[in-house]
Amino acid sequence: MSFPKTYRTALVTGASRGIGAGITRNLAEAGLTVYALARSEAALETVAALPGVRPLACDITRPEQMVEALDGLEIDVLVNNAGAVGSVKPLSEQALSETAETIALNLTAPLQLMQLLLPGMIARQRGHVISLSSSAGHAVFPGTTVYAAAKAALSRAHEVLRYDMAGKNIRFTEIVPGRVATEFYLQAFGGDADKLNETLYSKQRALRPEDVAEAVMMALSMGEHADIARLDLSPTDQAPGGHVFPVPGEAQHS
Ligand SMILES: NC(=O)c1ccc[n+]([C@@H]2O[C@H](COP(=O)([O-])OP(=O)(O)OC[C@H]3O[C@@H](n4cnc5c(N)ncnc54)[C@H](OP(=O)(O)O)[C@@H]3O)[C@@H](O)[C@H]2O)c1
Repeated sequence: MSFPKTYRTALVTGASRGIGAGITRNLAEAGLTVYALARSEAALETVAALPGVRPLACDITRPEQMVEALDGLEIDVLVNNAGAVGSVKPLSEQALSETAETIALNLTAPLQLMQLLLPGMIARQRGHVISLSSSAGHAVFPGTTVYAAAKAALSRAHEVLRYDMAGKNIRFTEIVPGRVATEFYLQAFGGDADKLNETLYSKQRALRPEDVAEAVMMALSMGEHADIARLDLSPTDQAPGGHVFPVPGEAQHS
């Protein structure tokens, strides 16, 4: 797969595992220098061993850490991938602190990363921002009020940015995945990986991280005049927003 040859560097947030690790691998194999970002330096070791990958240990909910980590970097491709759903339950049962944390990671951080990196893209007249939103930002999944609100807002931000940045040769792609088999819901399942697999991934075929990474490569490899503005990628077995009645006491997961 070939890129517009002007792209040389990429920054992938949440690169240590799951979807972000898959995207990082693909971008590095395509010959880009990839800055792989996550909080845990140790967890970045596997992707950091790939040729062309530079690890960046940084918490993107801490703007001062982001500014320091990005100092002097020229990034052509920004992949806003890091995200977390937290607990899956009605808003009335969630802690106030969780609301702030979920918004900070899924909405504030991607917006601030764009603020930090867009001026360089505008100056160099090339760039591509790819953000991972979620089917939960476009359809109703019970117990995800704050996460869904953050992802929906990120989606709207992309639409406005495509307008504001038109004519500057910067592309904006929102990838909207349905269920992907990763550790994403591990916290919501109290760290019980077996229960997570049994509940979410054993009865229906979920997407794999490689599927989403492939969609990212497809968006990147379009000719520079073409922008996949939004790409919905769903498991064949999942129809987001279906007619589902809430069962008292039982959370459902996107
Ligand atoms: N899995 C799904 O079913 C699904 C469905 C729709 C959309 N998505 C979206 O796809 C994206 C990737 O999800 P995933 O399933 O690959 O998640 P994951 O397996 O839980 O990986 C999350 C990544 O984000 C990093 N991260 C978390 N908090 C961070 C912070 N404050 N600063 C920097 N990095 C941080 C984690 O590393 P550290 O913990 O080391 O920081 C990890 O590398 C997310 O935006 C998610 O909302 C996922």
